[in-house]
Amino acid sequence: MSNENQKPSQPKGLATKTDTTSPFLSEPLPQGAPQGQQQSLQHAATDSSVSGAIPKYNLPKGANTGNVGATTHFGYQTINSEEKAQKVAEVFHSVASKYDIMNDLMSFGIHRLWKRFAINMSGVRRGQHVLDIAGGTGDLAKVFSREVGPQGHVVLSDINESMLNVGRDRLIDAGCTNVDFVLANAETLEPFADNSFDLVTISFGLRNVTDKDAALEAMYRVLKPGGRLLILEFSKPVFEPFSKLYDLYSFTALPIMGKIVANDSESYKYLAESIRMHPDQRTLKGMMEHAGFQNCDYHNLTGGIVAVHRGFKL
Ligand SMILES: C[S@@+](CC[C@H](N)C(=O)[O-])C[C@H]1O[C@@H](n2cnc3c(N)ncnc32)[C@H](O)[C@@H]1O
Repeated sequence: MSNENQKPSQPKGLATKTDTTSPFLSEPLPQGAPQGQQQSLQHAATDSSVSGAIPKYNLPKGANTGNVGATTHFGYQTINSEEKAQKVAEVFHSVASKYDIMNDLMSFGIHRLWKRFAINMSGVRRGQHVLDIAGGTGDLAKVFSREVGPQGHVVLSDINESMLNVGRDRLIDAGCTNVDFVLANAETLEPFADNSFDLVTISFGLRNVTDKDAALEAMYRVLKPGGRLLILEFSKPVFEPFSKLYDLYSFTALPIMGKIVANDSESYKYLAESIRMHPDQRTLKGMMEHAGFQNCDYHNLTGGIVAVHRGFKL
């Protein structure tokens, strides 16, 4: 399924600032429309005359062009690298409307505690500038919006318009007036200027990204010196018997729940497989160091089912 020809829906309200220059964007936004809710700049991947469209930058068609001929994983399948973004997009277009309820069901609500732990580790403060990458329906951005207060600023960014539309509606309904919404690929973070955020987060997003090293380098680029990156992601359970039980649960129960609730078992099979293919705790820490991050550490949650990695740009 592709959303490329669909016109984006109208925004529910105007919750963003109206300045047309932003310290976070590498170019000023056009005059006359609120930042984060309008037609894109020269990088626009699609042309839409509908006011309220979320800016789009380097979306799947333009992504991974350096990877032609290379292969990668989509769950357990080996595919051409340039196919992955489209396949991941199909998953999240399909599950977007049921994403939040499925998260609660699949994790018995524990994903809320994992996210709370990551937010506490972020050390976010009032007045800071935060970028939440692959932010989807906005769980983290909603909390950051409150924590940074009116003097601060949050960007909720995702590659997938269906997911970001759910997040935008939800945050506007919640009265978050210091949040912008930007469609962008984590591999380049093209819209964002160098050294512009105090905090960058990516929660359950990195395993879906084709070129994770490129994404980590982009995250490093957009962080201010002294800024920090937090990665919340599924990881490798540390206790073997627990791992077997977890496998049984994820490969049987998740696709069944996906079928019943979202009418889509394949996407939830991908979820289980993608978790197993994601780099383990130590490997990811090494990748962060390779991208330039310093003082990297990680904390296992729920026996390593999930880990929070943290690194600093000094
Ligand atoms: C499992 S959801 C996580 C959403 C949210 N961060 C959370 O924790 O609930 C993964 C998100 O990653 C996004 N995503 C996948 N590949 C991406 C990429 N290359 N760049 C930016 N976002 C991406 C998907 O569109 C999806 O919204």
